[in-house]
Amino acid sequence: MKERAWHVGTSQEAIEMHERYIVQTYRPHKFVYAKGEGVWVWNPEGEKKMEMLSCYSALGGGHCHKAILDAFVRQANRYWPGSNAFYNDVAPLFAKELVEFCGMAKVLPINTGAEGVERAIKIARKWGYTCKENTGDSLGFESVVEAAETAKNWGHKEKGIPLDTAQIIVCDNNFHGRTITVISASSHEQYRKYFGPLTPGFTFVPYGDLEALEKAITPSTVAFLAEPIQGEGGVVVPPDGYLKGAREICHKHNVLLIWDEIQTGLGRCGKRFAYEYEDARPDILILGKFLGGGPGQVSAAVCSEKVAGVLGYPEDGSTFQCHPIDCAAALAALRLIQDEELAERAFELGNYFQAGLENIHSPQVKEIRGKGLLKGVELKHDLGGAKPFVARLIDEGILCNQTHEHTIRFAPPLIITKDEIDWALSIVKKVLTEP
Ligand SMILES: Cc1ncc(COP(=O)(O)O)c(C=O)c1O
Repeated sequence: MKERAWHVGTSQEAIEMHERYIVQTYRPHKFVYAKGEGVWVWNPEGEKKMEMLSCYSALGGGHCHKAILDAFVRQANRYWPGSNAFYNDVAPLFAKELVEFCGMAKVLPINTGAEGVERAIKIARKWGYTCKENTGDSLGFESVVEAAETAKNWGHKEKGIPLDTAQIIVCDNNFHGRTITVISASSHEQYRKYFGPLTPGFTFVPYGDLEALEKAITPSTVAFLAEPIQGEGGVVVPPDGYLKGAREICHKHNVLLIWDEIQTGLGRCGKRFAYEYEDARPDILILGKFLGGGPGQVSAAVCSEKVAGVLGYPEDGSTFQCHPIDCAAALAALRLIQDEELAERAFELGNYFQAGLENIHSPQVKEIRGKGLLKGVELKHDLGGAKPFVARLIDEGILCNQTHEHTIRFAPPLIITKDEIDWALSIVKKVLTEP
C-alpha cells in the first residue's frame, strides 16, 4: 500500500489548504509550524523562529517539554478516555494536586477556556438562587441538616434571588471566550453582532473602576467576573488596589468574586496567579491554556469552600471532561511549575525583559505594560496599528502577535533563558528603532 502523508510538505501548501478547507475565523500570520523544541520552532522549509506568543500563554513549558510529553505519551499508551460514566485513575490525582496548588476546595474540570467560564457562570447563578442556609438539596448533600451545617461553616449567607433573574457584573473590554453565553458577556460588538439572541444577565462596568463596580451591584447580583490583567484586551493592567478592592466589595455585598486567570495564571505573570499580587483570593478561579501543559485540553472552574458543593448530579458534564491523557499532561504541567519554580522565574525574567524593552527608548512606543512574562508594547496610535511591526518581528525571527490594534504582545515560554531574552531584545530593538 502506498504510504500516506500525515502532514503537508510546504508552507505554501499548508496555507492554501488551510484557507480552502478551514472556516476562516482568524487571520493567521503566514508562518507554518512544522517542528517545535523549547522556545524554538521551525517551518516546513527549516526556517527557525523564537516562540514569543506560546499559543496565547498555553505553552508555559515551551514546545514538547520532555516532562509533559512523557506524561502525555505514557498515559496515551495505558488507556484512553472511558467517559464520566466511570472513574479513571488519573483525573483524581490531577484534581487533588490542582486544588492544593490553588488553595481551594474542589475543581470542576472541563476542556476549553470558554467552557470553564460557562461553568463558573452556572455555579454563580445556582449559588445565587439556592444559597440559603436551609436549602440542603441545592448544595448536593445527602441530608438537609448536613448541608445546612456545611453552609454555615462555609460562611454562606442568605441570597435567595428569584429564579432566572441573576445578574453577573463583567468589565468592558474583557475577553472570556467565544460561546454564545460568553460573547453575551462581551462588550465587543464584532464578537456579538450576528449571534443573537444573546444570553441575558450581564451588567457592564469599566475595567479598573471600583466605584462603578460597587454602584452596579443590586440585590440580583450574584458575581463579579473579571481578568486580573486583560490579556486579549491589550495587556491592560488595572490600577494598584483594584484586585483587593474588588475582593472587599464582593465580600461586603455577598457577591462571588470570579477571576478568569486562563491567560494570566499558572506562573505567567510572575506569581502562581495574578490575583496574588494583591492577595485577592476569588470564590471561583477559572484556569485553562497552560493547565493542559500544551498538548492537553484542560480547563477548570476551581471552587472555594463557599461554592464547592453548589453543582451536583445531573447538572453538568461533558464527554471529554476528566480525559486521562489530558489530565496526565496537566499533572505534569502543575509539577513542572513547582519543580522548576516557573512563577518565580517569570517574575525575575519578566522584570529583566521589561527593563530591556524600556532601554530601547523607541520613539514609536507609547507604553510598555504587563507583569511577569506577559508583556504588551503599545505603539503610538498615529503609526496606524501594530500589525506591520508584528509582521517585521516575525520576519526577523520572533513569533508574537498584536492584541488590540496598537499593542504588540509578547508571552514567551516560562522556560526562556536570559540569553534568549537578550536575543529577542536585539530583534525588538531593530524593529522598533530602524526604519
Ligand atoms: C482570559 C481568557 N479567558 C477565556 C479565554 C478563552 O479560552 P479558550 O480559547 O480556550 O476558549 C481566553 C483565550 O484567549 C482568555 O485569554
